[in-house]
Amino acid sequence: MASLTFSPSRSAAKPADRAPDSGPRAALLKLSVPRDFKLPRATAATRGRTAIVRSCQGAQTLVDNGSQRASDVPLLTFSEAVERLQAKRRGWKGKQQYLAMYSSVFGGIVTDPAAMVIPMDDHMVHRGHGVFDTAAIMDGHLYELDQHLDRIVRSASMAKISLPFDRESIKRILIRTVSASKCRKGSLRYWLSAGPGDFQLSPSGCAEPALYAIVIQDQSPFDSSGIKVITSSVPIKPPQFATMKSVNYLPNVLSKMEAEENGAYAAIWLDNEGFIAEGPNMNVAFVTKEKELVMPHFDKILSGCTAKRVLTIAEALVNEGKLQGIKLGNATVEEGKAAEEMMLIGSGVLVRSVVQWDEQVIGNGKEGPVTQFLLNAIIEDMKSGPSTVRTPVPY
Ligand SMILES: Cc1ncc(COP(=O)(O)O)c(C=O)c1O
Repeated sequence: MASLTFSPSRSAAKPADRAPDSGPRAALLKLSVPRDFKLPRATAATRGRTAIVRSCQGAQTLVDNGSQRASDVPLLTFSEAVERLQAKRRGWKGKQQYLAMYSSVFGGIVTDPAAMVIPMDDHMVHRGHGVFDTAAIMDGHLYELDQHLDRIVRSASMAKISLPFDRESIKRILIRTVSASKCRKGSLRYWLSAGPGDFQLSPSGCAEPALYAIVIQDQSPFDSSGIKVITSSVPIKPPQFATMKSVNYLPNVLSKMEAEENGAYAAIWLDNEGFIAEGPNMNVAFVTKEKELVMPHFDKILSGCTAKRVLTIAEALVNEGKLQGIKLGNATVEEGKAAEEMMLIGSGVLVRSVVQWDEQVIGNGKEGPVTQFLLNAIIEDMKSGPSTVRTPVPY
């Protein structure tokens, strides 16, 4: 790998600024275990499921089916902690498989999921001071890597996170991580954070910014069927935060959960003036009765890489006369609900037809032709688009 240059570390916080009993060591000491602790008797509910697994400093430990229902907290050695991490990972039957992770804290790539960890005192973990982005991996190529890289660099600048390496070195590391993973279809996610240091609010004690990246194998079956959305009751982030892709996704998570609780796929945000904004991890667009493609502009929402690509691809439809025009601007809820077609657009959903918004059926309630064309065009672009959107991975 090419030599990597770290940006100069920032000045450490003055000792007087730090609380005397804060930090990981203090947190560990608070976990001391009473020696005279007695295990509770097994009840009908727990019998057969619990086991005393080891004795540590005179104390006993109860472990229950992988979800540690500890009546006692053991003090583990490093290798015991690693063993437990590996056992936990083996037991987790998640839908996603993690093939490789890069961490600038290790300064390398790991392929054992148990080692895919980040430090507790990273400012991203305890203060949300981090930004992230993704890029799809399709047929051994990274899709729109440069566009996503540009966006994470912009997000980092807005979050006042300096780059741990220059942009080209970050790109090389990301490609190398995908190469080490041997993944040909999946996704690459990466984070820039203020880095580990201490548990203060100010990042001044973070020694150097960090880069983390993970490669996730795609195993989910592709689904392009029309979906339902609702209007989100969770407030949208103010433009300063909605336009950067920071790790503060709590409003997005709550919005997605609200959708799922209502049998919908996503909840749509309106902006502070009541215009249509975006979904929790996707942009939104409409085809009006006048055959105009309308998309909210990106001044109050995330500038979606897929949405921008869709705007370019849709020009072909204008040239063929299948669309009358393309408009980037405000759209009211009434206009949206009266549209012939509505679609969600993003790296995850690609282009997905919305057939119902709240109680309103969109168009004729079926996947629309423009949406289907744009979905097929994006898939084609991922498989055989120009080199500006496809970065080959040397395996
Ligand atoms: C809030 C939000 N809007 C829009 C998008 C779509 O962006 P992209 O097409 O770059 O994935 C995302 C996806 O990351 C998102 O999180």
